[in-house]
Amino acid sequence: MIGQALDRVDGPAKVAGQATYAYEHWDDGQPLYGFVVGATIGTGRITRIDTARAERSPGVHMVMTHHDTPAQGAPDLSIPFEYWRAFPVLSRADVRHYGEPVALVVAATFEQARAAAPLVDIEYAGEAGSYDFAACRHQAYAPDSLIYGMIPTDTAVGDFDAGFDTAPVRIDERYTTPYEFSQPMEPHACLVEPHGEDLIVHVSSQIVDAARASIASTLQIDPERIHIVTPYVGGGFGSKLRIHHETILAAFAARALNRPVKVALTRQQIFHLTGVRPTSSQRVRLGAERDGRLVAIAHEVTMHTNRHEEYIEPTATTTRSLYAAPHRLTRHRLVPLDLPRGEDVRAPGEAPGLLAVESAMDELAYALEMDPVELRIRNEPELDPERGVPFSDRHLVECLRDGARRFGWESRPAQAASLREGRWMVGYGMAAAIRGHLQAPTKVAVRLQADGTAVVRSDMTDIGTGTYTILTQVAADGLGLPPDRVRVELGRSEFPVSMGSGGSWGATNSCTALHRACEALREKLLATASNDARSALHGLDPAGAAFVDGGVRIGGASETLSEIVARNHPDGVEAEGETLAMTDDPNYQDYALHSYGAHFAEVGVDADTAEIRLRRMLGVFSVGRVLNAKTARSQLIGGMIWGVGAALEEEGAVDPRSGAFVNRDLAQYLVPVHADISEVDAVVLDGFDDKANVLGAKGVGELGICGAGAAVANAVFNATGVRVRDFPITLEKVLPGLPPMDD
Ligand code: MOS
Repeated sequence: MIGQALDRVDGPAKVAGQATYAYEHWDDGQPLYGFVVGATIGTGRITRIDTARAERSPGVHMVMTHHDTPAQGAPDLSIPFEYWRAFPVLSRADVRHYGEPVALVVAATFEQARAAAPLVDIEYAGEAGSYDFAACRHQAYAPDSLIYGMIPTDTAVGDFDAGFDTAPVRIDERYTTPYEFSQPMEPHACLVEPHGEDLIVHVSSQIVDAARASIASTLQIDPERIHIVTPYVGGGFGSKLRIHHETILAAFAARALNRPVKVALTRQQIFHLTGVRPTSSQRVRLGAERDGRLVAIAHEVTMHTNRHEEYIEPTATTTRSLYAAPHRLTRHRLVPLDLPRGEDVRAPGEAPGLLAVESAMDELAYALEMDPVELRIRNEPELDPERGVPFSDRHLVECLRDGARRFGWESRPAQAASLREGRWMVGYGMAAAIRGHLQAPTKVAVRLQADGTAVVRSDMTDIGTGTYTILTQVAADGLGLPPDRVRVELGRSEFPVSMGSGGSWGATNSCTALHRACEALREKLLATASNDARSALHGLDPAGAAFVDGGVRIGGASETLSEIVARNHPDGVEAEGETLAMTDDPNYQDYALHSYGAHFAEVGVDADTAEIRLRRMLGVFSVGRVLNAKTARSQLIGGMIWGVGAALEEEGAVDPRSGAFVNRDLAQYLVPVHADISEVDAVVLDGFDDKANVLGAKGVGELGICGAGAAVANAVFNATGVRVRDFPITLEKVLPGLPPMDD
């Protein structure tokens, strides 16, 4: 089963509307509805807040402000991942960014709560904030490290300046990337039901254990009192790794009123409250010999952070592994602003970083008059160029060659602005993809029941990626069962603890743990049968046992699993498996573990208007072994489409007076729609990375976006001869560089 394109096992429930999401639960009586009131200034403090009018509004049960909130725990900065830290809400009179919650209105209906929200009367003493990244760039500072001390802020190998200065061909350019947002289909939402001291929390979350810990430490109550339920999550992309205001506010209100309370963020609120991909300015310098071999690479990144809570995208980290060059330098710097805090957005770091580096590689290819595919192949390193360790399983060159062949790269116009089809200027572009493969502690239990069906349990989440389906496949293979005899239950804090969905680690963490759980369960079953005088397998050597078709066979003897279990364990028999933290896995010391890919894009640019149309796109990827051909392809295509958006459309615009994101809805914050995306395909090479895990599989969720935007940007240059380094590439940036209009 592993690897097959099994349809999503949760598909029918979702299509039939039977998959219940956080905001849709209704288990314990009529809930109340909370509506978040956000600050209308960017910096300053609340000097007066009067809730009387809002409280008198029809249906209103309560209005909560910073005067009413209970004592809250402070974030413990020694906890390595912020997702587990306390998340205080309505805890101060001061405002740290536009839209920050200043009150919660709770009413009998959502409409009543929303109607009362503007009746909360607030006076502010505004202060001058810093909202302009470019103007504040000189205030950049070096953070202590990236990702909680695990990754250095800067690296240097050889002597970059000397290497770059003597290189005969040099590229030295600055690229900028805008504010971007995760915007999952399902808004951030939470329903809290109080049951005595306990809270049942239906929350849309990527990591159940983190949600529980964060709520418990904010409310200062025992985590055992909190029961997280999140069987279905309508997308996350990083924005649900941690819980946000809606969850804490729902919990406060539910406890204060002793009623179930629901709070969802509106689409507009999501722009200010659930994290933003930092804007960045990236200087890339490449020095090469005339034959294309790189002598020197430097990637220096400056990005925004909220002044009060640091967030760093590890933007230059994959540059440390991508290409060979003896002289190297990477740097990350932060500019403190009074804007919403950065948070992880799909492929945090690699996505904007590869936009810059893979654009610069394209610029170098033109400077050398060399095929950009060949340039990359020529710079393939033998060992990780900064760490000096071998790669676990690197197939970038195969991705490049296979992609070039499938795409018909040989028909690419070598000269920019040289291919014309009617009013369309046509161009081809390509870029490499790389993403680190991560691993984190995860437990999964599998139970075989007396009826011969298996139940898999973990607090792992399925955020739309296909977790239910791949776990079904792993259990089916591991126990020799047809997939319809496996039931997977996820997203509850009573289940074994996982690291959830994030970092492209969810699939391999949970499937590896389940594979081990199945191994342990097979041993238990064999020992049981072998010791059972009533079993057909009694006394046989279990070494040659095969689990197939719901039974066990040893030589000519066989018995069904349900017979073994029903006779010996009428309540079922269970085993647990686990995946270790990468810090406990020596392969992470001894090897560089990444996934790879190559993107190819063809665009048409209207010669008169500079309208850019994607004509076709192909990604070829190497991710070790694929767990499900269909869900993996969907993940990769989704990432590629996001890359198209990053290249051409996405951009949060900041109001320089208030730090508000002005275009805070999906009509004005543009993302690709069906009409923008023509033919897109993703191909995965056969593979097995034996250093990654026992299944040979690596993460795919974030790889697709890595480099995808650069392939599109490079195609725009190939079509027009116009190089836009300020993303997204909107038509007003291209138009001035186009040749004069035809008569
Ligand atoms: Mo991902 S940005 O770690 O959900």
